[in-house]
Amino acid sequence: MKRFENNILILFAHPALQNSRVNRQLMKYVMSLDGVTFHDLYEAYPDFHIDVKHEQNLLLGNDIIVFHHPLFWFSVPAILREWMDLVLQHMWAYGKTGRALKGKKLFNVVTTGGNESLFQHDGNHGNTMIEFLAPIRQSAYVCGMDFLPPFVVHGTRNITQQEITQSGEDYRKMIVSLRDGKVNLEAARSQQRLNSDLESIITT
Ligand SMILES: Cc1cc2nc3c(=O)[nH]c(=O)nc-3n(C[C@H](O)[C@H](O)[C@H](O)COP(=O)(O)O)c2cc1C
Repeated sequence: MKRFENNILILFAHPALQNSRVNRQLMKYVMSLDGVTFHDLYEAYPDFHIDVKHEQNLLLGNDIIVFHHPLFWFSVPAILREWMDLVLQHMWAYGKTGRALKGKKLFNVVTTGGNESLFQHDGNHGNTMIEFLAPIRQSAYVCGMDFLPPFVVHGTRNITQQEITQSGEDYRKMIVSLRDGKVNLEAARSQQRLNSDLESIITT
């Protein structure tokens, strides 16, 4: 019998963790939770030789998949892109007989150097974070997955230690709530980011 409503796989990608200010802290809030598999891709594959079968088996054993990473050039770090290219195989993840990921949920936990005000239609970047994630959203759709809005921490150079701690606690709360089936997904889908008003999407 399943112990939790949802098993969660966090695919973590940061190529220079020794220089990290924010993600190095955020990861500690979720990496030892029951029902959660925290998988550091750069640690597992320093030479980029991704074990496709192992990654596919990890996906099969989980209901919710998280891409946790800093935003690099408005996209994911290289290993996560390599992971997508190799692991999401035709006739396994998509295509006529590709049903392996159908119904699973996917979302990003992403940190950005830029402040939130830049990620607006009238801001310097001209697009929202959800819009920048379009290739991942569409890939998820092609694989029959349910794409949710991202959990975003903006302004990593300027935020205070107190704000990082708050984000870490919110991250843990959100993951535990998802694991236990205590997130109102309809309410979550209507948000720009999952952590814009966390309390409003968590049910008791
Ligand atoms: C190669 C590279 C590309 C980056 N591209 C972006 C970007 O497109 N937009 C942005 O807001 N920040 C960008 N940044 C800043 C990172 O997102 C930021 O340093 C990171 O989220 C901080 O997390 P950390 O403290 O865990 O390293 C980039 C940083 C690097 C090294």
